[in-house]
Amino acid sequence: MITIDGPAASGKSSIARLVAQRLGRTYVNTGNMYRAMTWAVLQSGVDPQDADAVRAAAAGIVIESPVVDGKTQVCISGRTLTDAELNSDPVNRAVSFIARVDEVRDRLVAYQRALASAGPLVMEGRDIGSVVFPDSPHKIYVDASEEVRASRRGAQGLSDQIAERDRIDKQRKNSPLVIPAGAIVIDNSHITLDQAVDQVIAVLQLS
Ligand code: CDP
Ligand code: CDP
Repeated sequence: MITIDGPAASGKSSIARLVAQRLGRTYVNTGNMYRAMTWAVLQSGVDPQDADAVRAAAAGIVIESPVVDGKTQVCISGRTLTDAELNSDPVNRAVSFIARVDEVRDRLVAYQRALASAGPLVMEGRDIGSVVFPDSPHKIYVDASEEVRASRRGAQGLSDQIAERDRIDKQRKNSPLVIPAGAIVIDNSHITLDQAVDQVIAVLQLS
């Protein structure tokens, strides 16, 4: 198990996907699971900041994350969500509120732990090295300056209040974003994606 955590738009998904490809492992994007729950909660018309209403709505949502071509997708009630749905403005604005509800986290963390029985994984998110797999020997924390992260997200054509999401993710009581104990920090503000992937593989001594 390789865990990769970090703040919004730090490069986690791209790095985790490429590390998994190079090492022949399955890539698991846990942010997309929280995004899918958020998409479904919003479909039910619930206010994302009303934790009781979110809890009630989430209890009725059927979420699965099948592995297709070496990476996880997310399905709600059997339908695979598109990248456009997962990364829409309303989902970006609401996801950190949904992700701080204990029952939502409990369910998704249990699901993420169960995926480990499928074989070696590269799993990325916010709490993978700290909470989901704290005993993993291979932990990375990917960082980049806020300016670089905002400009990379903008270059993707996405509207995303990353500073606000980071603030909520770092301040929540349950599984806040932290540098996990034992994690190696890689700041990729001024290096390319390929260089960041090389660094991850080198520091984990997996090449
Ligand atoms: O890709 P980006 O960094 O923009 O976000 P993401 O990884 O798709 O995660 C979206 C949101 O889900 C985060 O801002 C967190 O609120 C939540 N999340 C979480 O709480 N725990 C995780 N393991 C993964 C994501
Ligand atoms: O998953 P997360 O939100 O942390 O970041 P991402 O979606 O993997 O990366 C955000 C954007 O930054 C993508 O378009 C990456 O290709 C780009 N990126 C980059 O240009 N150089 C890097 N060293 C890392 C990411």
